[in-house]
Amino acid sequence: MKIDILTIFPDFFRGPLDYGIVRRARETGLAEVNIHDLRNFTKDKHRTVDDRPFGGGEGMVLKPEPIFECLESLGGLAPRAERVSGSARQSVILLSPQGRRLDQSLAAELSTLERIVLICGRYEGVDERVGEHLADREVSIGDYVLSGGELGAAVIVDTVTRLIPGAVGNEASTRQESFTDHPELRGDGPSSTCVSGGLLDYPHYTRPADFRGMGVPEVLVNGNHEDIRRWRRKSALAKTLRNRPDLLERIALSEEDQQLLEEARSQH
Ligand code: ADE
Repeated sequence: MKIDILTIFPDFFRGPLDYGIVRRARETGLAEVNIHDLRNFTKDKHRTVDDRPFGGGEGMVLKPEPIFECLESLGGLAPRAERVSGSARQSVILLSPQGRRLDQSLAAELSTLERIVLICGRYEGVDERVGEHLADREVSIGDYVLSGGELGAAVIVDTVTRLIPGAVGNEASTRQESFTDHPELRGDGPSSTCVSGGLLDYPHYTRPADFRGMGVPEVLVNGNHEDIRRWRRKSALAKTLRNRPDLLERIALSEEDQQLLEEARSQH
């Protein structure tokens, strides 16, 4: 996959993309990431990328010219209509708090593309013509306002890259994160989140079995496979009930699940 990032802070990306799975994917050529400095596409001596908003108001707005010209310099990009229709396996994404919220199913969808371009917004906004005529979608990484799109772009690169086949050593571990247990939750419904089978993950432990007096649940050390499976399912249900009760409304719970959930409820 080819990934281009358009930003006024190119140095920001020294670091986030240089570790772990993303680094390895770049080194092995599974992902090619290119960072483009929008200031290189300005024409005045101050390299101005922003201006005051028409109609007045607080703050500055990123100008359209550097963004359009940077994108036009990339080469190989399909017209917007083909990106919107899906006939081109490419997407130009504007990072913005007004975008569709990123979740695991959107990440999975993006990981099937051949090319993505990430436009990092800054200041109080980006000229709307970028979203209307250049980008084919707007994506937010969560319901909070960041000072710019750079963190969002790094998040998208990370979550999408690890879904490219071959990027993660143990492919079962990424497959497990999707909704394989609950096919009804696949696709782009609101249920998509980074969970296993529609629930939050169960707790994990490793050695030592006794760490400063803090133990490991007995069932994991001495239990049989069936007991461990039930314990993990119940723990996942309990954690989901505690931290993300909204998820429980979206999945079909089996009879065993309902019984485990009842047990979890009565223990808390
Ligand atoms: N820019 C500012 N806030 C953002 C968010 N939540 N997601 C993506 N880009 C942003």
